[in-house]
Amino acid sequence: MRLFAAGLLLLGVAALSAGCGTKQTGIAKGGDVGQGKTLFVAKCGSCHRLADAGSTGTIGPDLDGAFAGARAQHFKVSTIKQVVYDQIYHPAPAGLMPAKIVTGANAASVAAYVASVAGTGAASNGAPPTITSAPAAGGGGGLAATGAKLYESLGCSACHSISGAKGVGPTFKGVYNSKVQLSTGQTVTANDAYLLESIRDPDKQIVRGFPKGVMSATIPPGSVSIANAKALIAFITSKK
Ligand code: HEC
Ligand code: HEC
Repeated sequence: MRLFAAGLLLLGVAALSAGCGTKQTGIAKGGDVGQGKTLFVAKCGSCHRLADAGSTGTIGPDLDGAFAGARAQHFKVSTIKQVVYDQIYHPAPAGLMPAKIVTGANAASVAAYVASVAGTGAASNGAPPTITSAPAAGGGGGLAATGAKLYESLGCSACHSISGAKGVGPTFKGVYNSKVQLSTGQTVTANDAYLLESIRDPDKQIVRGFPKGVMSATIPPGSVSIANAKALIAFITSKK
């Protein structure tokens, strides 16, 4: 987690130095700050903390923390705006942040808004990214339904039952918040963080009695995006 956070800071610095004059995206023109705030809360806040927006997402970097340094170095607002605009079009290729959540004038508005507030207030140093907790049992609505589709389309269903039957892998039934015995002899609680790691880095922790390398052969580390993993976790959570 530490390393991940440090990596994000480096990305931030790289983004800033590359921010001006990026050709592929074009220049962020105009933008309505008020409209940008509304869009930010709706489309970005679930992953990013930003004090002014009152958002508390922790999947992506804390944007106050991300831009506090740029502010302190007196970067122009227009420069920060362009960095945010470029980020919307060209997030890191690892697939953690979906590209083009907003485009055109809406992207300019979001960028103008973020540039006007990020890092101005009480900026924290950027909490390390962790997943926000999955929706309560039984609920989850849209996210769990998305997860149910991914469970089929990504092939998880080939190895993981939801009926309680043991397959190539452990059943998802009742796994959420259960105590899982690992091959190391350790016992861990299958909370959000554990499930996220099991999906994103399958060989990191191995469930006792199951083979290592079987899941990762089909689902290589990092191949499931965080957004998809979150939906899958909501689905798994709903299988009490
Ligand atoms: C599904 C989660 C998710 C959503 C939704 C999301 N982001 Fe991100 N964002 C991330 C992650 C993860 C990173 C770090 C990896 C990267 O740079 O792509 C990131 C990075 C960033 C950065 C770079 C910060 C830095 O330290 O350099 C900015 C700026 C940003 N996002 C703005 C936005 C804006 C604006 C929106 C809404 C249009 C948005 N994000 C929506 C996950 C998300
Ligand atoms: C080819 C078979 C296979 C596929 C496909 C597969 N897994 Fe697995 N999975 C396993 C095996 C075997 C284990 C147990 C060994 C381990 O811990 O890695 C496991 C472990 C897990 C665990 C930990 C479960 C526990 O009881 O602690 C989770 C969560 C998980 N998989 C999620 C998924 C998701 C989500 C997908 C689809 C994106 C998926 N798996 C696809 C074989 C598979």
